Amino acid sequence: MAKGKRTTVFFCQNCGYESSKWLGQCPGCRQWNTFVEEAAEIPARAALGGGKREPSSLSAIAMQEEDRICTHIRELDRVLGGGLVSGSLTLVGGDPGIGKSTLLLQVCRHLSNDGRKVLYISGEESLKQIKLRAMRIGEFNDALLLLCETSLSLIEDVILRQRPEAVVIDSIQTVYCEDVAAAPGSVSQVREATAALMRLAKDENIPIFIVGHVTKEGTVAGPRMLEHMVDTVLYFEGDRHASYRILRGVKNRFGSTNEIGVFEMCQNGLREVENASEFMLSGRPQGASGSVVVCSMEGTRPILLEIQALVCRSSFGIPRRQAAGTDFNRVNLLMAVLEKRVGLRMGDCDAYVNIAGGIRMLEPALDLGIALAVVSSFRNRPVEEKTVVFGEIGLSGEVRSVSMAQQRIMEAAKLGFSTCILPQTVKESLAASGAVPEGIVLKGVSSVQEAIEEI
Ligand code: TYD
Ligand code: MG
Repeated sequence: MAKGKRTTVFFCQNCGYESSKWLGQCPGCRQWNTFVEEAAEIPARAALGGGKREPSSLSAIAMQEEDRICTHIRELDRVLGGGLVSGSLTLVGGDPGIGKSTLLLQVCRHLSNDGRKVLYISGEESLKQIKLRAMRIGEFNDALLLLCETSLSLIEDVILRQRPEAVVIDSIQTVYCEDVAAAPGSVSQVREATAALMRLAKDENIPIFIVGHVTKEGTVAGPRMLEHMVDTVLYFEGDRHASYRILRGVKNRFGSTNEIGVFEMCQNGLREVENASEFMLSGRPQGASGSVVVCSMEGTRPILLEIQALVCRSSFGIPRRQAAGTDFNRVNLLMAVLEKRVGLRMGDCDAYVNIAGGIRMLEPALDLGIALAVVSSFRNRPVEEKTVVFGEIGLSGEVRSVSMAQQRIMEAAKLGFSTCILPQTVKESLAASGAVPEGIVLKGVSSVQEAIEEI
């Protein structure tokens, strides 16, 4: 094909799969009818390089001491891996209305209060709208500059002229690159804009945040390949009806993933929730059957959660099973283990399992909690209130060990729990290493049956 020739390419709008002809079903993500024709310019080779570059050795790379910028939002700093890295491109994804713009405006506020020049570029809201939001959040100083712009070349120009110390682009789907013929928000546009911003961030050593909208399926709209291009991907999620929000690190080139930050949406912006466990357990019913507190790990952070189960006689032939906040198949599997290994006859019972607070957790350490909640509801006997449980359950009904037991136990002890039911192997290894936390009774169990006897 001739260099610089204009052709058309078909892109899957869901995952970014590229094809030279239209396809009904995407081979990449198996979605139907997602291919859209977009004009694609094959760039001439010379345009890619942009001048000569020299490779450098490791020792020749200069490292500055303060490579991480503190955003003063501790929950965010932790998810970022200890602060914002200069020259990084961070994608913040999430449903509309979840609070992405609010969070990033708050980041801008903290950074500008530190005397850093920050540029907030919005393609979605007018300056007035941004000001209205800012007035709810608090005092801003003049180091924060606002711009309403969607043209990529103008945005690049402003960044190069103003040389801010941090940039927010809200949102990447509105950014428009004149050289690409496709509509804004389409795969080729978003890809082009992201690539340009990535180059800018790296060349000028400016940290850039980009906001990305999320589709129904929970991926960043259209281009999932955005995730491959950027340094860090954060998802902002949460029940729209609940006030708390969870910021989850999905990819991080500068830190661990699986970290979460917990926020609460208030009248004056997002508030950090430092004690997430207390927050998740608030409003727990007293002495109700089917309620069990478990300790789950999110990255390096233990969180106590309440698992609720409701098991009742089914009035129809086929019993209903439902799981909210955890894996439906896992719940089915655990109920099968209870039937077979413990001998509970639940074949004609409906069962509903829910993690209170609308949070989603899939950790295997929740198994024991789910099983005990189901048993508690089935037998209609409440579990002792100050008991916390964790452990993975195997198919033969054995309770298997889980990682980071000590942090989990300490978190429970901190919140005033007096008993912890945990895998026997974990208890033994804690005793062997002499690291038994004080103030909490540990009850080791090696099978589900034993755990049921303990409660
Ligand atoms: P927003 O940041 O605009 O969401 P996104 O950019 O992800 O689409 O969040 C808007 C929601 O947050 C809106 O429903 C109003 C609510 N909100 C508050 O409850 N308190 C506040 O102080 C602010 C600024 C917004
Ligand atoms: Mg917004």
